[in-house]
Amino acid sequence: MVSGNSNEIFIFWTLLLLATSASLVHGHKGTRVGFYSTTCPQAESIVSSTVQSHFNSDHTVAAGLLRMHFHDCFMRGCDASVLIDGPNTQKKAEANLGLRGYEVIDDAKTQLEAACPGVVSCADILALAARDSVVLVNGSSWAVPTGRRDGRVSLVSDADNLPAFNDSIDVQKQKFSALGLNTQDLVALVGGHTIGTSACQFFQYRMYNFTKVRNGAVDPSINLAFLPQLRELCPQYGDVSKRVALDTHSPNRFDTSYFRNLRIGQGILESDQMLWNDASTKAIVQHLLLGLNFKVEFGNSMIKMSNIGVKIGNAGEIRQVCSKIN
Ligand code: HEM
Ligand SMILES: *[C@@H]1O[C@H](CO)[C@@H](O)[C@H](O)[C@H]1NC(C)=O
Ligand SMILES: *[C@@H]1O[C@H](CO)[C@@H](O)[C@H](O)[C@H]1NC(C)=O
Ligand SMILES: *[C@@H]1O[C@H](CO)[C@@H](O)[C@H](O)[C@H]1NC(C)=O
Repeated sequence: MVSGNSNEIFIFWTLLLLATSASLVHGHKGTRVGFYSTTCPQAESIVSSTVQSHFNSDHTVAAGLLRMHFHDCFMRGCDASVLIDGPNTQKKAEANLGLRGYEVIDDAKTQLEAACPGVVSCADILALAARDSVVLVNGSSWAVPTGRRDGRVSLVSDADNLPAFNDSIDVQKQKFSALGLNTQDLVALVGGHTIGTSACQFFQYRMYNFTKVRNGAVDPSINLAFLPQLRELCPQYGDVSKRVALDTHSPNRFDTSYFRNLRIGQGILESDQMLWNDASTKAIVQHLLLGLNFKVEFGNSMIKMSNIGVKIGNAGEIRQVCSKIN
C-alpha cells in the first residue's frame, strides 16, 4: 500500500470502511442490528411499548428486567434459559429467587406471537427489554444486535457462574473474563446498580457481624456517618427480605451516583464497595466519574455482555411460550 495507485487506495479505504461499519452493526457472534426489520418490523416497538406500559404502573420493573438479562447472559449465554419453568431449572437457584419482571417478557411475547408467529426469540426480548428499561430511567440508548435463538437447557447449577455479593475482586474479574468481559466491562456493568434494590439479607452482615474482621465487627469500609442510616433500614433482627436501594442518592435514575457513593463508603453490597478498595477497579471507577462517559460505556459493555454465548442459525429454537421449551 506504500506506493499504491489511486485504485488500490480506493479499494483499501472501502474495505476498511466496510470492516469498521460491519463491526459496529454486527455483534461478534453473528447477531446484527435490525435482524427483524423484514420478518417482524414491529418487533422492537412492541417490546418497548410493553416495557413502557408495565413501567408506568411499576417503576421497579426497569431494574428487574436489566438484572434478568444479566443473569440470563451469565448462565449458558444469552439464550433465555433463565425463563424456563421446571423442577431443576435456573429459576430455582438461590441467586435467581429475587428476579422479577417475568410478566413483562410474557406479555411482550404474547403480542409478538400475534403479530409475527414463531419469529422473535425470548432471548432477544430480554436483550431489548434491558435496553428499553435503561432508557426509561434516563440512561443512554444503544442499538441492540438481534438474532439470538432460545436455548433448550436450563439447570439449577448454571447459577454457579453468577458473581456473588461477597466475591472478592479477583473472583469477580475471573467470572467476567471467563465470558470475555474485561475489568472495565465489569466496573461499567456493575454500575447497573445505579437502579434497583437489594434485600437486607445480602449485606446486613456488614453492619452487625463482619466475621472477616472478627465476630460482631462492622465492615470498616462502611462510612461511619452512613452506618446508622443503613442500620435503620436493616435492623439486626428485622425482616431480611426488606429491600433497600442499591444507589442511596438517586435510586430510580440511571446516573453516576452509584460510583460517587463508592468513593464515600456508601456502597451497599460488599462486592460494590470492594470496587473502590481494589486499586485496579478503583482507577476505573475514577475514570467513569471523570473522563469517560459512564452511560456510553455502559451501553458498549452491554452490547458485549448481550453477545455472550448467543445461539444463531440452526442452534436452539424460537420458543412459543418463554417459560417452556417447545
Ligand atoms: C459482581 C457482580 C454483581 C453482583 C455480586 C451482583 C449482586 C446483586 C445482588 C445481591 C442484588 C440484590 C438481589 C436481591 O435482593 O434479590 C443485585 C441486584 C441488582 N443487580 Fe446486581 N450484581 C452484580 C452485577 C450486576 C450487573 C452486571 C448488572 C446489570 C448490568 C446488575 C444489575 C442489578 C440490578 C438492576 C439489581 C436490582 C434488581 C431489582 O431491583 O429487582 N448487577 N445484584
Ligand atoms: C438525563 O440525562 C441527560 C443526559 O445524559 C442529563 O443531561 C439530564 O440531566 C438527565 N435528567 C435527569 C432528570 O436526570
Ligand atoms: C459468601 O457467603 C456465603 C453465604 O451466603 C458463604 O457460604 C461463602 O463462604 C461466602 N464467601 C466468601 C468468599 O466469603
Ligand atoms: C457471627 O457469625 C458467626 C459465624 O457465622 C457466629 O458464630 C457468631 O455467633 C455471630 N456473632 C454475632 C454477634 O452475631
